[in-house]
Amino acid sequence: MMTTLLVVLSLSLTILSFGGAHAATMSFKNNCPYTVWPATQTSGKKPQLSTTGFKLAPHARFKLHTPEPWNGRFWARTGCSMDSYGKFVCATADCASGQVKCNGNGAIPPVTLAEFNIPAGGGKDFYDVSLVDGFNVPMSVNPQGGTGDCKTASCPKNVNKVCPRELQKKGANGKVVACLSACVAFKKPKYCCTPPHNTPETCPPTNYSKIFSRACPNAYSYAYDDKKGTFTCKGRPNYVITFCP
Ligand SMILES: *[C@@H]1O[C@H](CO)[C@@H](O)[C@H](O)[C@H]1NC(C)=O
Repeated sequence: MMTTLLVVLSLSLTILSFGGAHAATMSFKNNCPYTVWPATQTSGKKPQLSTTGFKLAPHARFKLHTPEPWNGRFWARTGCSMDSYGKFVCATADCASGQVKCNGNGAIPPVTLAEFNIPAGGGKDFYDVSLVDGFNVPMSVNPQGGTGDCKTASCPKNVNKVCPRELQKKGANGKVVACLSACVAFKKPKYCCTPPHNTPETCPPTNYSKIFSRACPNAYSYAYDDKKGTFTCKGRPNYVITFCP
């Protein structure tokens, strides 16, 4: 009798905790003419999502859900294959796991990132497309069905085409496959907004960050690039994350 009651109680608690959490839906779509291998990373010491890496062929879609609260990022790896040792490696944004799954690892820059902060209790979501760690694939985050601002965060242009020589990352065929941020390339405080340049006033845009912001005005081009306002949306929309929008 007691056991049954406990089972029923814990079962309903489980249902309640799932039902109460309005998880966010992330719908991935690959509009690139090439295959990408998206990756997910949950920030902090929280559990990772149901998948940390998957393959997305041209025109393919994939849907996943986040719990709430959730804080993390998504990106796309390109030029991936199995090497002669059976290790999965990518030409850009590799996560060094040796597998399609990233298992909590982050991306090796340069990488275009979609970043999310989804608070508990149905509060306002924060999201952006960031070029702070450089650029590899055009990307957009388009909330559908939310309330409030809900603008599309994006870097739809191919920044590789306007990438200055000193920031270029080239592939095996000599083509530019990604573009480093000046912070990643030169590791200088004025580009990384680290001390003594760690305030918005002492870390203005640079000639390098301007190349990124000119190409993609709706993405973060450097650490203190807050002027466009942060992207927010309420009501747990469906976030459509498109590669090559
Ligand atoms: C950016 O400025 C630095 C000096 O601050 C200069 O060396 C570099 O050539 C400039 N690069 C571009 C792409 O304008």
